[in-house]
Amino acid sequence: MKDELLATIGRVIDSGCYSGGPFVEAFEDEFAAYCGTKHAVAVSSGTSALWLAMMAMEIGPGDEVVTVPATFVATVEAILATGATPVFADIDESSYTMSPEGLERAISARTKAVVPVHLFGQTAEMGAIREIAAGRGLRVIEDAAQAHGASCGGRRAGALGDAGCFSFYPSKNLGALGEGGAVTTDDDLVAERVRELRNHGQSRKNHHVASGWNCRMDGVQAAVLSHKLRMLEGGNQRRVEIAAAYDEFLAGCAGVVVPAVRKPDHHVYHVYAVRVGGRDRFIRRMAGLGVECGVHYPVPVHLQPAFARLGCGMGDFPVAERCAGEFVSLPMYPGLTGEQAGIVMAAAARSCEVEACAGVPPVIQSH
Ligand SMILES: Cc1ncc(COP(=O)(O)O)c(C=O)c1O
Repeated sequence: MKDELLATIGRVIDSGCYSGGPFVEAFEDEFAAYCGTKHAVAVSSGTSALWLAMMAMEIGPGDEVVTVPATFVATVEAILATGATPVFADIDESSYTMSPEGLERAISARTKAVVPVHLFGQTAEMGAIREIAAGRGLRVIEDAAQAHGASCGGRRAGALGDAGCFSFYPSKNLGALGEGGAVTTDDDLVAERVRELRNHGQSRKNHHVASGWNCRMDGVQAAVLSHKLRMLEGGNQRRVEIAAAYDEFLAGCAGVVVPAVRKPDHHVYHVYAVRVGGRDRFIRRMAGLGVECGVHYPVPVHLQPAFARLGCGMGDFPVAERCAGEFVSLPMYPGLTGEQAGIVMAAAARSCEVEACAGVPPVIQSH
């Protein structure tokens, strides 16, 4: 895409609109239309999208926000940055997203919001989660950083709660040439507040109605994202094809658990994570055969040293802990050729353990 992207960036340079401005506004309109929401507000990262959405809903000190330990730390950092307290609900063993029963158990009188995470490209069970939240008067903020184009009940990620928060980190299904994020919402007030807060709380020139931050998106990223948005559906489709080939082949490999997809919802495979007992040996064998694998994420957030003050420990969220010890992410990106996918599958067949996944103790780094 280099030549097309250079031409796109050239148009931004010619315009002189480097921060905010027409390229950002155009991308906001296109992304809102894609997600099926009234608004999309472009911001500087997924982390700031989460923080801004919660700030716009006036979540802060004294409030509790329920999320999952099976996520990237940014979800929890954003909650803490508002002054609120993160409270965890365990994940469901098959979808790896927030368990609705776990959510029920985590709710207290201080709970103000719930942040389900659409991990790996599959949405959380949003019907059940929305119902629980509505019954308790809680706001729902989707962490959709890994789920551009995923859907649940016929609606796309970003349109499944009161606000959706996206990351456009380069490796995401829709990735910028740097950092970027967006908040999607149908709520006019939330959109207006996010617009103000991303720009130092400014409602009009030199009039600051809140203390915000600089979370603006720049014109180059917006123009690049508009260009790449046109390729998102094709890229997601290719991911689904690769996943189907992996699923079929790996079903025959003892000890490998392939991702379970909740039908008829749409999984966009930001990450293709299998579960393998003896995960570290598997990864070493794959590396020896020339296939680099990832782990998302080896330590669940509640066991990270940075969050020890939340008072959680090993055994508190057994499903997230077990999964963290078994997850392996296989190569997954639209440019992966059929031949390369074949190499991955052959290597996986040679590397997979005979031991069954269940019952293997998790490998979690101590701290
Ligand atoms: C689930 C999740 N939430 C939040 C983020 C934060 O996004 P960003 O890196 O754009 O700040 C990420 C991205 O890495 C993510 O995967």
